[in-house]
Amino acid sequence: MTEIFSPKNIIVTGGAGFIGSNFVHYVVNNHPGVHVTVLDALTYAGNRENLAGIPDDRLTFIHGNICDAELLDRIVPQADAIVHYAAESHNDNSIADPEPFVKTNVEGTFRLLEAARKYDVRFHHVSTDEVYGDLALDDPHKFTEETPYHPSSPYSSTKASSDMMVRAWHRTFGLRTTISNCSNNYGPYQHVEKFIPRQITNVLEGIRPKLYGAGLNVRDWIHTEDHSRAVWTILTQGRLGETYLIGANGEKNNIDVIEMILSIMGKPSDDYDHVKDRPGHDRRYAIDSTKLQTELGWKPLYTDFESGLKKTVEWYTEHRAWWEPTKQATEAKYKKQGQ
Ligand code: NAD
Ligand code: TYD
Repeated sequence: MTEIFSPKNIIVTGGAGFIGSNFVHYVVNNHPGVHVTVLDALTYAGNRENLAGIPDDRLTFIHGNICDAELLDRIVPQADAIVHYAAESHNDNSIADPEPFVKTNVEGTFRLLEAARKYDVRFHHVSTDEVYGDLALDDPHKFTEETPYHPSSPYSSTKASSDMMVRAWHRTFGLRTTISNCSNNYGPYQHVEKFIPRQITNVLEGIRPKLYGAGLNVRDWIHTEDHSRAVWTILTQGRLGETYLIGANGEKNNIDVIEMILSIMGKPSDDYDHVKDRPGHDRRYAIDSTKLQTELGWKPLYTDFESGLKKTVEWYTEHRAWWEPTKQATEAKYKKQGQ
C-alpha cells in the first residue's frame, strides 16, 4: 500500500527506552528521508546508549520531560508528527508506587495532545492490549478493537486514560490521531526488570529464574521489530481517529517461556523458583490483529518465537555491559517485594 501521509520530521517520545529506541533504529534504517527528534527524560528505563551509532544528521536527542509544556512549545512546531512511546511501563512498579504513572502516562499524554493541537501536528499514540483487562485461559475469543476497556493495574488504567484522551481530542478538536494497542514485546534493549530479560540475565548471573505464582498466565509475544513496522504502517497509512490492534499470534504461558529460555541456555528445564504472585495478575492476553492485516496489509515477520528468543538470548549474552549496571538494583527491588 502507498503512504497517505509522509512525515519528514517526527518526534519520538520515549525514544531512549526499549520499544521507542527499536522504532528509532527501524525508521533510520528504512526511511532515509525522515529526521527523528527523540524526547526522553532518561528515567531509570531510558538509556542514551540505545541510540548509539545513529548519525547526527538523522537524529536530534532532547533530554526533557513530556510534562514540560514550555519545552513542547519549542520543539513541536518543527515536527509534522509525534509518535508517543514515553511512559512508565512496568506493572510491578505501578503496584509499588502508582504516582509516576499518573504523572507521565496521564498528564504527559495530555501535555503532548495539547501541543499537537496547538501546532496541528499528527499524533500517533502507542498503547497496550492491557487496557482490555484479561481473558480466561479457555476463552475462545481474543481482544479486538471492539473489546470494552477493563484495565486491572495502575499501569494499565493510566494507559487506558491516555487512550481515552486521544479519542476525545480527535472527536472534539479534530486532532489527526491514531492509536495502536500492542501485545507483549520482546527483543534487544528491553530493561532487565521485564520477564524475558530478567530470566535470561538471571541465568547468565547464576541466579535461578523467578516465576510468579503457578506460572500459567499467558502472554501474546511479538518481536519488537514487527511492532515498529506496524506503528510506521499505521502512522503513514492508518485512517485518522482509528485504533489498530498489533499482535503476532504468539500466545505462550510463562512456564513454557521459562523452560524454553532454560533449554536454549543449556540448563535443566526445572531449574527455576516459584515466587510470590503479582496482585491482580492478569491471566491471559490475546490479540486479534485482523483489522491491521486486512486493512493495511501488515504481517509479522518473526513468526517463529523460539528462534526470536534465541537471538534475544544471544543479544543479552553479547551485551553484558549494557545490562550489568542495572541488574543488581533491579534484583534488590524484587527481593524486597518477595519476588
Ligand atoms: P520503557 O520503560 O522501556 O521506556 C520508556 C521510555 O520513556 C524511557 O526511555 C523513559 O526514559 C521515557 N520516559 C518515561 N517517562 C518520561 C517522561 N515523563 N518524559 C519523557 N520521557 C519519559 O517502555 P517500553 O517497554 O519501551 O514501552 C514503550 C511504550 O510502549 C509505552 O507507552 C508502553 O505502554 C507501550 N507498550 C509496551 C509494551 C511492552 O511489551 N513493553 C507492549 C505494548 C505497548
Ligand atoms: P512483564 O514482562 O512484567 O509484562 P506484563 O506484566 O506487561 O505482561 O511480565 C510478563 C509475565 O511474566 C506476567 O505474567 C508476569 C510474569 N513474570 C514472572 O513470572 N516473573 C518475573 O520475574 C516477571 C518480571 C514477570
